[in-house]
Amino acid sequence: MSSSVVSPILSRLPRVSIIGAGRVGSTLAQRIAEKNLADVVLLDIVQGMPQGLALDLLEARGIELHNREIIGTNDYTDTAGSQIVIITAGLPRKPGMSRDDLLKTNAKIVVEAAKQAIAYSPDAILIIVTNPLDVMTYLAWEATGLPRHRIMGMAGVLDSARFETFIALELGVLPADVKAMVLGSHGDLMVPLSRYATVNGIPITELLDADTIERLVERTRNGGAEIVELIQTGGAFFAPASATSVMVESIVLNQSRLLPVATYLQGEYGLKDVVIGVPCRLGAAGIESILELNLSESEREALHISAESVRKNIARSQEILGAISSI
Ligand code: NAI
Ligand code: 2OP
Repeated sequence: MSSSVVSPILSRLPRVSIIGAGRVGSTLAQRIAEKNLADVVLLDIVQGMPQGLALDLLEARGIELHNREIIGTNDYTDTAGSQIVIITAGLPRKPGMSRDDLLKTNAKIVVEAAKQAIAYSPDAILIIVTNPLDVMTYLAWEATGLPRHRIMGMAGVLDSARFETFIALELGVLPADVKAMVLGSHGDLMVPLSRYATVNGIPITELLDADTIERLVERTRNGGAEIVELIQTGGAFFAPASATSVMVESIVLNQSRLLPVATYLQGEYGLKDVVIGVPCRLGAAGIESILELNLSESEREALHISAESVRKNIARSQEILGAISSI
């Protein structure tokens, strides 16, 4: 009898459910399984599609040397008992569309998905990916009533990775040697913190002139749209899936990584009752703490402008949802 490559102990890993088995969702399932982080349930409204994708991923297990379960389904009962639920369900951007154009369609999808997911996994940590990210995270928080440490949005890890990529390309250095943090909303008003960006501890302000840094900041702000314009039929999904898997990893392995995460603020940074990206420590319980950086006057102002635009869209989406439910 031949022996198994994967230890049987690895099959007792947590379960992560992904609602929306589109490009981001299915790539994320692949990342989570291949990093051996958890068993994965992929759920979508399209019949057969998540089942087909799950089977395709299962058939790669022998080659990729992992033993994670991957289930495709259209039924929330299969998601029961998940430690983490990630919502990627909804429409992506088309060329010329802003993330906020997605508000109307995605608000209803995300609210329903969050309620259903938590009904079957009442102890789960919820990670929202669907756009417009900060607004969707707020609506899911409101609809589920989860404590704020158990609900969060993914955007800052992606936006920071983009900023790091552009810095690395400009300087010709290894991307992993570049560390940067982007706060604020996931959109044109995001707040890349240039003065905190470093290459192995050396501030980029020592390595690049102000105009170059501003060009890289602008490219970061436009990072999602740049890819939509090139692909035409949808948005980015490889880096978004990688970024979400970093958050999953920090929770599942209780790593307490300090990451930019969209979270519900209760006075931090002078902001209340709004969701926006700020540095958070992510561990087994979800958001363990929020770090309040000493921001300069202009950084703080940019964060507040960013939060104000999220607030406006939260109000708009609440009106839309109210109108839908009164029909
Ligand atoms: P996609 O169109 O490939 O996948 C979306 C999937 O959601 C589809 O398979 C669709 O059938 C499914 N879906 C729609 N309604 C559903 C429902 N009620 N229940 C379950 N599934 C449902 O889109 P893609 O590229 O995967 O993007 C997904 C979302 O993530 C978009 O809103 C996109 O803008 C957002 N996104 C956010 C990022 C971020 O940084 N936060 C980065 C990249 C994408
Ligand atoms: C992105 O930034 C579309 O939000 C998505 O790629």
